[in-house]
Amino acid sequence: MEHMERVARLLGKWASALKLPEHEVVRWQAAGILHDALKNERPAVLRRTLVPDLEHLPDALLHGPAAARKLREEGVDDEDFLLAVAFHTLGHPDLGGLGRALVVADYIEPGRRDRKKWKKSRRSRMPQEFPLVLRDVVRARIQGTLARDRTLHQETVGLWNVLVAEAPWQEGLAGAREMAKR
Ligand SMILES: [Fe+2]
Ligand SMILES: [Fe+2]
Repeated sequence: MEHMERVARLLGKWASALKLPEHEVVRWQAAGILHDALKNERPAVLRRTLVPDLEHLPDALLHGPAAARKLREEGVDDEDFLLAVAFHTLGHPDLGGLGRALVVADYIEPGRRDRKKWKKSRRSRMPQEFPLVLRDVVRARIQGTLARDRTLHQETVGLWNVLVAEAPWQEGLAGAREMAKR
């Protein structure tokens, strides 16, 4: 899917701009490439085989936890990476720098057709304003959920509460780097 390549490209670009070590750049790109690996699998299959314990989640949110489960079965033991993949749609209070960047990239990648101007301006502010853009994205997602009278999941609210409780990050690349290395 081209979407995953665009997400991977953004993540790689940001990780490089933040001067993360080369293995981290590759790790961030890998999260982009893999996060929607099971997006086209039928929800009934995901539910039955991979995430029978996540019955409360609607169909559209199953592909993240299912992909993480599959990667774990195949030997991936990088817990932050698995959490990032599992909760890229919902968000999660324990997301590290990679998971937070994936939430942002997934939402503002240039192939998305809605809110084009808003997303373009957020892309232009990444990664140097990572903490602020992340908060913009999580807020926008929550507002979208509310506007459509959909369920707000506790993982999403948990992420929001963590973000607003965090001490202000340093401005510019220093703060962005700090968040990226969480
Ligand atoms: Fe997804
Ligand atoms: Fe995605």
